[in-house]
Amino acid sequence: MAKARVAVLISGRGSNLQALIDAAAQPDYPAEIALVVSNRPRAAGLDRAAKAGIQQETIDHKDFATRDDFEAALNDALKISKIDFVCLAGFMRLLTDSFASDWRGRLINIHPSLLPAFKGLHVHERMIEAGVKLAGCTVHFVSPEVDAGPIIGQAAVPVLPGDDEDKLAARILEQEHKLYPVCLRLLIEGKARLSGHTVPFADDIVPDGAFANPPIE
Ligand code: GAR
Repeated sequence: MAKARVAVLISGRGSNLQALIDAAAQPDYPAEIALVVSNRPRAAGLDRAAKAGIQQETIDHKDFATRDDFEAALNDALKISKIDFVCLAGFMRLLTDSFASDWRGRLINIHPSLLPAFKGLHVHERMIEAGVKLAGCTVHFVSPEVDAGPIIGQAAVPVLPGDDEDKLAARILEQEHKLYPVCLRLLIEGKARLSGHTVPFADDIVPDGAFANPPIE
């Protein structure tokens, strides 16, 4: 079967982009990263795309008078590259309802919390302040509301004594890099399908046991 053509939208460092590039380099992975778009001209993630020989574009939101104009340019780039699925990976621009509904079921995002808790910015700092014992990350379909939309997958990590924002972010990021390629694969293979507001899994995806902090039997 032909591989799905995936675009990754970034604004910065691009470590999740790298995780997707690495996964897609595996012969049995069902996607190829066909396009990387950054809304910031000097995003470090663009170098990762260049190194991997992936077509890249900068579409700087500052060059457009309105959000709609920016998204029209983005849509053109996605269409020209015949993109099937779009992954947001640290893409820090709000997308309009119209863009989200155009790409409904084919547009996903990763966020460094166990949604629906801790949407938005400064997530790690807020989790430490709140004293939560479990943190994590979520891959979800994008809906018009920020960091919301049907959840495809989540990974949990403990918050440990002595954690600061950076330590917790690093622990979560390690899981982001594993979770995102897995969820994209499930989506492309039709094993995680959007059904109303939820994403039912195929019956064969069954986790084992519980993850707790402190540990429980
Ligand atoms: C990641 O931690 C991602 O979850 C987060 O931005 C970071 C991007 O890092 N996204 C959000 O907060 C979306 N609301 P990366 O550029 O190294 O992938």
